[in-house]
Amino acid sequence: MKMISPSLLSADFGQLQRDIEMLNASECDWLHVDVMDGMFVPNISFGQPVVKHIKKHARKPLDVHLMIMDPGRYVADFQAAGADILTVHYEACTHLDRVLHSIKDHGMQCGVVLNPHTPVALLEDTVALCDVVLLMSVNPGFGGQQFIDNTYNKVRQLKQICNRRNASCLIEVDGGVNLRNAPLLYEAGADVLVAGNAVFGSSDPMRTIHEMKQ
Ligand code: DX5
Ligand code: ZN
Repeated sequence: MKMISPSLLSADFGQLQRDIEMLNASECDWLHVDVMDGMFVPNISFGQPVVKHIKKHARKPLDVHLMIMDPGRYVADFQAAGADILTVHYEACTHLDRVLHSIKDHGMQCGVVLNPHTPVALLEDTVALCDVVLLMSVNPGFGGQQFIDNTYNKVRQLKQICNRRNASCLIEVDGGVNLRNAPLLYEAGADVLVAGNAVFGSSDPMRTIHEMKQ
Protein backbone atom coordinates (compact mmCIF):
# COMPACT_ATOMS: atom_id res chain seq x y z
CA MET A 1 0.00 0.00 0.00
CA LYS A 2 1.16 3.57 -0.63
CA MET A 3 -0.47 5.84 1.89
CA ILE A 4 0.39 9.35 3.10
CA SER A 5 -0.35 10.81 6.52
CA PRO A 6 0.65 14.50 6.52
CA SER A 7 1.73 15.77 9.93
CA LEU A 8 -0.25 18.75 11.17
CA LEU A 9 2.70 19.69 13.38
CA SER A 10 4.02 21.58 10.35
CA ALA A 11 0.67 23.22 9.55
CA ASP A 12 -0.05 26.87 10.34
CA PHE A 13 -1.73 26.59 13.77
CA GLY A 14 -3.33 30.01 13.22
CA GLN A 15 -4.97 28.67 10.05
CA LEU A 16 -5.56 25.09 11.09
CA GLN A 17 -9.03 24.83 9.52
CA ARG A 18 -7.69 26.08 6.17
CA ASP A 19 -4.83 23.56 6.23
CA ILE A 20 -7.15 20.68 7.20
CA GLU A 21 -9.49 21.59 4.33
CA MET A 22 -6.52 21.50 1.95
CA LEU A 23 -5.73 17.97 3.21
CA ASN A 24 -9.39 16.97 2.83
CA ALA A 25 -9.17 17.95 -0.84
CA SER A 26 -5.79 16.24 -1.34
CA GLU A 27 -4.98 12.59 -2.06
CA CYS A 28 -3.68 11.98 1.47
CA ASP A 29 -5.12 9.02 3.38
CA TRP A 30 -4.87 9.98 7.05
CA LEU A 31 -4.11 13.13 9.08
CA HIS A 32 -1.14 12.63 11.41
CA VAL A 33 -1.63 14.34 14.77
CA ASP A 34 1.45 14.66 17.04
CA VAL A 35 0.73 14.94 20.75
CA MET A 36 3.78 15.79 22.91
CA ASP A 37 3.96 16.15 26.68
CA GLY A 38 7.32 17.82 27.32
CA MET A 39 8.39 14.75 29.32
CA PHE A 40 8.63 11.80 26.95
CA VAL A 41 9.94 14.25 24.34
CA PRO A 42 11.48 17.68 24.99
CA ASN A 43 8.70 19.54 23.20
CA ILE A 44 5.03 20.31 24.02
CA SER A 45 2.54 20.44 21.14
CA PHE A 46 -1.18 20.21 22.01
CA GLY A 47 -3.68 17.91 23.68
CA GLN A 48 -7.26 16.63 23.47
CA PRO A 49 -9.06 20.01 23.11
CA VAL A 50 -7.15 20.80 19.91
CA VAL A 51 -7.62 17.23 18.59
CA LYS A 52 -11.37 17.72 19.09
CA HIS A 53 -11.28 20.83 16.86
CA ILE A 54 -9.18 19.03 14.23
CA LYS A 55 -11.80 16.28 14.21
CA LYS A 56 -14.58 18.79 13.53
CA HIS A 57 -13.05 19.73 10.17
CA ALA A 58 -11.23 16.54 9.11
CA ARG A 59 -12.87 14.25 6.54
CA LYS A 60 -10.19 11.56 6.88
CA PRO A 61 -9.12 9.30 9.76
CA LEU A 62 -7.07 10.91 12.53
CA ASP A 63 -3.78 9.07 13.03
CA VAL A 64 -2.90 10.22 16.55
CA HIS A 65 0.73 9.70 17.60
CA LEU A 66 1.08 9.99 21.37
CA MET A 67 4.55 11.07 22.47
CA ILE A 68 3.59 11.05 26.14
CA MET A 69 4.62 9.06 29.21
CA ASP A 70 2.27 6.29 30.32
CA PRO A 71 -0.24 6.86 27.48
CA GLY A 72 -2.65 4.26 28.85
CA ARG A 73 -3.98 7.00 31.15
CA TYR A 74 -5.42 8.92 28.16
CA VAL A 75 -6.91 6.25 25.88
CA ALA A 76 -10.52 7.16 26.70
CA ASP A 77 -9.79 10.89 26.36
CA PHE A 78 -8.35 10.58 22.86
CA GLN A 79 -11.17 8.32 21.79
CA ALA A 80 -13.61 11.00 22.96
CA ALA A 81 -11.56 13.65 21.11
CA GLY A 82 -11.96 11.75 17.84
CA ALA A 83 -8.84 9.62 17.29
CA ASP A 84 -9.36 6.79 14.77
CA ILE A 85 -5.88 5.30 15.01
CA LEU A 86 -4.01 5.66 18.30
CA THR A 87 -0.28 4.87 18.44
CA VAL A 88 1.77 4.69 21.63
CA HIS A 89 5.51 4.40 22.18
CA TYR A 90 7.01 1.07 23.19
CA GLU A 91 9.42 3.07 25.37
CA ALA A 92 6.58 4.84 27.24
CA CYS A 93 4.50 1.80 28.26
CA THR A 94 5.24 -0.59 31.12
CA HIS A 95 2.27 -2.76 30.14
CA LEU A 96 2.13 -2.38 26.38
CA ASP A 97 -0.14 -5.37 25.80
CA ARG A 98 -2.73 -3.92 28.19
CA VAL A 99 -2.61 -0.49 26.54
CA LEU A 100 -3.06 -1.98 23.04
CA HIS A 101 -6.06 -4.01 24.19
CA SER A 102 -7.51 -0.93 25.83
CA ILE A 103 -7.21 1.05 22.56
CA LYS A 104 -9.01 -1.74 20.69
CA ASP A 105 -11.65 -2.00 23.41
CA HIS A 106 -12.31 1.72 22.88
CA GLY A 107 -13.05 1.03 19.20
CA MET A 108 -9.88 2.51 17.71
CA GLN A 109 -7.12 0.96 15.64
CA CYS A 110 -3.99 0.47 17.71
CA GLY A 111 -0.32 0.82 16.99
CA VAL A 112 3.12 0.75 18.57
CA VAL A 113 5.83 3.32 17.84
CA LEU A 114 9.56 2.55 18.07
CA ASN A 115 12.24 5.19 18.58
CA PRO A 116 15.28 4.96 16.28
CA HIS A 117 17.31 3.12 18.97
CA THR A 118 14.67 0.46 19.72
CA PRO A 119 15.14 -2.82 17.78
CA VAL A 120 12.16 -4.15 15.85
CA ALA A 121 12.93 -7.64 17.23
CA LEU A 122 11.23 -6.49 20.46
CA LEU A 123 7.91 -6.62 18.60
CA GLU A 124 7.98 -10.40 17.91
CA ASP A 125 5.18 -11.00 20.41
CA THR A 126 3.23 -7.82 19.65
CA VAL A 127 2.88 -7.44 15.86
CA ALA A 128 -0.09 -9.78 15.62
CA LEU A 129 -2.05 -7.45 17.91
CA CYS A 130 -1.19 -4.25 16.03
CA ASP A 131 -3.07 -2.55 13.22
CA VAL A 132 -0.04 -0.31 12.67
CA VAL A 133 3.63 -0.29 13.63
CA LEU A 134 5.20 3.17 13.37
CA LEU A 135 8.97 3.38 12.99
CA MET A 136 10.51 6.72 13.95
CA SER A 137 13.09 7.80 11.39
CA VAL A 138 14.15 10.78 13.55
CA ASN A 139 14.34 11.20 17.32
CA PRO A 140 10.81 12.35 18.15
CA GLY A 141 9.99 15.84 19.35
CA PHE A 142 10.36 18.13 16.37
CA GLY A 143 9.46 18.42 12.71
CA GLY A 144 11.99 19.19 10.00
CA GLN A 145 14.79 16.86 11.15
CA GLN A 146 17.06 14.72 9.01
CA PHE A 147 16.01 11.18 8.07
CA ILE A 148 18.02 8.33 9.69
CA ASP A 149 19.13 5.87 6.98
CA ASN A 150 19.05 2.76 9.21
CA THR A 151 15.25 3.00 8.94
CA TYR A 152 15.33 1.08 5.63
CA ASN A 153 16.85 -1.95 7.43
CA LYS A 154 14.26 -1.69 10.18
CA VAL A 155 11.39 -1.64 7.67
CA ARG A 156 12.75 -4.79 5.98
CA GLN A 157 13.30 -6.58 9.32
CA LEU A 158 9.82 -5.66 10.50
CA LYS A 159 8.32 -6.95 7.24
CA GLN A 160 10.02 -10.31 7.89
CA ILE A 161 8.68 -10.49 11.44
CA CYS A 162 5.16 -9.70 10.18
CA ASN A 163 5.37 -12.43 7.55
CA ARG A 164 6.69 -14.96 10.05
CA ARG A 165 4.00 -14.09 12.58
CA ASN A 166 1.24 -13.92 9.98
CA ALA A 167 0.55 -10.32 11.03
CA SER A 168 -1.16 -7.90 8.67
CA CYS A 169 -0.23 -4.62 10.39
CA LEU A 170 0.60 -1.59 8.29
CA ILE A 171 4.19 -0.34 8.48
CA GLU A 172 4.35 3.44 8.94
CA VAL A 173 7.48 5.64 8.90
CA ASP A 174 7.70 9.07 10.57
CA GLY A 175 10.38 11.75 10.39
CA GLY A 176 12.38 13.39 7.61
CA VAL A 177 10.34 11.73 4.86
CA ASN A 178 10.60 13.55 1.52
CA LEU A 179 10.20 13.03 -2.22
CA ARG A 180 13.69 11.43 -2.45
CA ASN A 181 13.37 8.76 0.24
CA ALA A 182 9.63 8.04 -0.16
CA PRO A 183 10.03 5.65 -3.15
CA LEU A 184 12.84 3.80 -1.35
CA LEU A 185 10.71 3.42 1.78
CA TYR A 186 7.77 2.02 -0.18
CA GLU A 187 10.17 -0.35 -1.94
CA ALA A 188 11.56 -1.53 1.43
CA GLY A 189 8.01 -2.41 2.53
CA ALA A 190 6.54 0.71 4.16
CA ASP A 191 2.78 1.21 3.71
CA VAL A 192 2.19 4.66 5.26
CA LEU A 193 4.54 7.64 5.20
CA VAL A 194 4.21 10.60 7.55
CA ALA A 195 5.38 13.88 6.08
CA GLY A 196 5.33 17.26 7.82
CA ASN A 197 7.92 19.64 6.49
CA ALA A 198 8.02 18.03 3.01
CA VAL A 199 4.30 18.72 2.56
CA PHE A 200 3.72 22.02 4.37
CA GLY A 201 7.11 23.47 3.43
CA SER A 202 6.51 22.91 -0.27
CA SER A 203 5.09 25.55 -2.61
CA ASP A 204 2.30 23.16 -3.68
CA PRO A 205 1.39 20.76 -0.81
CA MET A 206 -1.36 18.98 -2.76
CA ARG A 207 0.98 18.26 -5.62
CA THR A 208 3.70 17.04 -3.22
CA ILE A 209 1.20 14.60 -1.67
CA HIS A 210 0.25 13.41 -5.16
CA GLU A 211 3.91 12.90 -6.10
CA MET A 212 4.71 11.07 -2.87
CA LYS A 213 2.03 8.52 -3.66
CA GLN A 214 3.49 7.70 -7.09
C1 DX5 B 1 8.31 14.12 15.17
C2 DX5 B 1 6.88 13.87 14.79
C3 DX5 B 1 6.67 13.84 13.34
C4 DX5 B 1 7.01 15.13 12.65
C5 DX5 B 1 7.39 14.81 11.24
O1 DX5 B 1 8.47 13.96 16.52
O2 DX5 B 1 6.44 12.62 15.31
O3 DX5 B 1 5.38 13.39 12.99
O4 DX5 B 1 5.97 16.06 12.65
O5 DX5 B 1 7.80 15.96 10.61
P1 DX5 B 1 8.84 15.96 9.40
O6 DX5 B 1 8.19 15.21 8.28
O7 DX5 B 1 9.03 17.41 9.12
O8 DX5 B 1 10.10 15.28 9.88
ZN1 ZN C 1 4.55 11.74 14.47
